[in-house]
Amino acid sequence: MNVPAAVPTVAPAGPAMLGGPDREHLDPPAATAALDSLASPAAEHPEWIWRSGELVPWEQARIHVNAVGHASTAAIFEGIKAYRADDGERLLLFRLDEHLRRLFDSARICRLALPYDFAQLKAAVLDLLRVNRYIEDAYVRPWAFPSGLIREQMVPAGSACEVVVDSWPFRARLDTGGGCRAGVSSWQRVSDASMPPRVKAFSNYHNGRLAMMEARENGHDWPILLNERHKVSEGPGACIALVRNGTVITPSLTSGVLESITRDTAITLLGELGETVVEREVDRSELYLADELFFMGTAWEILPITVVDGLTVGAGTPGPVTRRLTAEYTRLVRGSSDRHQGWLTEVPR
Ligand SMILES: Cc1ncc(COP(=O)(O)O)c(C=O)c1O
Repeated sequence: MNVPAAVPTVAPAGPAMLGGPDREHLDPPAATAALDSLASPAAEHPEWIWRSGELVPWEQARIHVNAVGHASTAAIFEGIKAYRADDGERLLLFRLDEHLRRLFDSARICRLALPYDFAQLKAAVLDLLRVNRYIEDAYVRPWAFPSGLIREQMVPAGSACEVVVDSWPFRARLDTGGGCRAGVSSWQRVSDASMPPRVKAFSNYHNGRLAMMEARENGHDWPILLNERHKVSEGPGACIALVRNGTVITPSLTSGVLESITRDTAITLLGELGETVVEREVDRSELYLADELFFMGTAWEILPITVVDGLTVGAGTPGPVTRRLTAEYTRLVRGSSDRHQGWLTEVPR
């Protein structure tokens, strides 16, 4: 067999098919750029990654190209945050147990048999953060995908799975304040009858990505998706709540949303702050009459929405309920609250 002396380099095709997009317009607004670090891996990678039961150097965590395509359609994941405590000493994972439980819930719905139990995955997350020696906030992503050379179009139920945990530094926006502009998307949220949004599956993010690109094209920072009943569901990476006439209202868990851990945290904290919180179906037009509006999610944290579809929300700055919630949430995740200590897991050194 003839082997060429040198393999010619083929440059990746440019964006010609898109008709040469105006880069400046596609770039994220400064207010939300930090959140986009989720989408693009940091240029500097961590030293270690957890894969199939062991810590491996980042460069060696490889996969054959043939194993990627079909397997990725069935992949599931979790997104967890570890915050540097206010004391500067501890690195604290926020609600690790709940995130891992949701990973197992996603696996059950997608009929993937995870080859590790809860305790093993918990140890894996802690081990990875320990060896990567983060001195700042970090994002941790355990994910599972059917492994091997799957040749069927549909990944069979119960296929062997591989589990990986990776992590990268994350710049919290909690400390920066500010709000974002949101717009209602023309894309509909996937429904429980087609691709359950309750499952944290990578495939679901195709829906969010379409909505996000449209939002950016229309000058918004983030989209708000309506569900198949034309009621408010969530953003592509966060749940949503509004405040109107002193009541906090958030779409119910049957509105086409992920069972968000931050949403649950916010409901708890708001109750403790003396706010009334109602979970129910939310009409699109209620967004336009809200005194306050905010997204909530692990990555997005508590993100105030100050403009919705071009209408200023309240005074155009984060409102009092949102600010009080953010302050409480910040104290909690940074280990300065004496409440809910059980939601924090310290990373061993
Ligand atoms: C689609 C979607 N909704 C909501 C959330 C918020 O969930 P959590 O608060 O558990 O991070 C996320 C976060 O990953 C998400 O991707």
